[in-house]
Amino acid sequence: MPFFLRENRRGCICRTLAGITPRGLRQLGWSSPHRSFAFSTLENFHRGDLLKSDNLQKLYFDQLDQIHSAETQIREALPKMIEAASEMELKVALQNHLEETHVHAARLDQILLEAKGMVDPKHCKGMAALISEGEDVIHDATDESVRDAGIIAAAQKIEHYEMAAYGTLRTFAEIVGTSQHAGLLDQTLEEEKHADAILTNIADTANDKAHKPA
Ligand SMILES: [Fe+2]
Ligand SMILES: [Fe+2]
Repeated sequence: MPFFLRENRRGCICRTLAGITPRGLRQLGWSSPHRSFAFSTLENFHRGDLLKSDNLQKLYFDQLDQIHSAETQIREALPKMIEAASEMELKVALQNHLEETHVHAARLDQILLEAKGMVDPKHCKGMAALISEGEDVIHDATDESVRDAGIIAAAQKIEHYEMAAYGTLRTFAEIVGTSQHAGLLDQTLEEEKHADAILTNIADTANDKAHKPA
């Protein structure tokens, strides 16, 4: 990450950027997206609105980095959930969503590259905890119907986390990003909602199967 992005203080950014020319940035080895971001940041500073926009923009970038890590964790977790599931309908739903998840990660790559010139994932602790819970459910269930019901419960917790994250990110993008990025984030949000609705339908049958009155 370019060092000036780590600085929040107005003075540091001013000192860092004020004397740097495009040639200077090229000599520093900054690529074109970094250079254009640096100059738009300096431009904002001179307009006097850096502090106002920088806080939300920084939060937006942090949250994008975090959900990128979440999507990467999901891409690793879903194959294990698919393998552990018994019902074909559940396996197919999870497989379809794994394919959508690859697209979600690709959209985030695009947004991050266009918005700040790099992808710098920030470990998502929330997703790590949800996935760990799901692994416990798979490990602890001795009945396959109960395991399926548990996998659905774990997957829906993950979807709801993503829905909250993408709803927030879409709103942030509308304020400090671009309408194109807001549209991409909204597309992902709709796919997360759709995946959640499919799981709700499968749960109707799966929960009945798992329910074995004593
Ligand atoms: Fe996703
Ligand atoms: Fe998802």
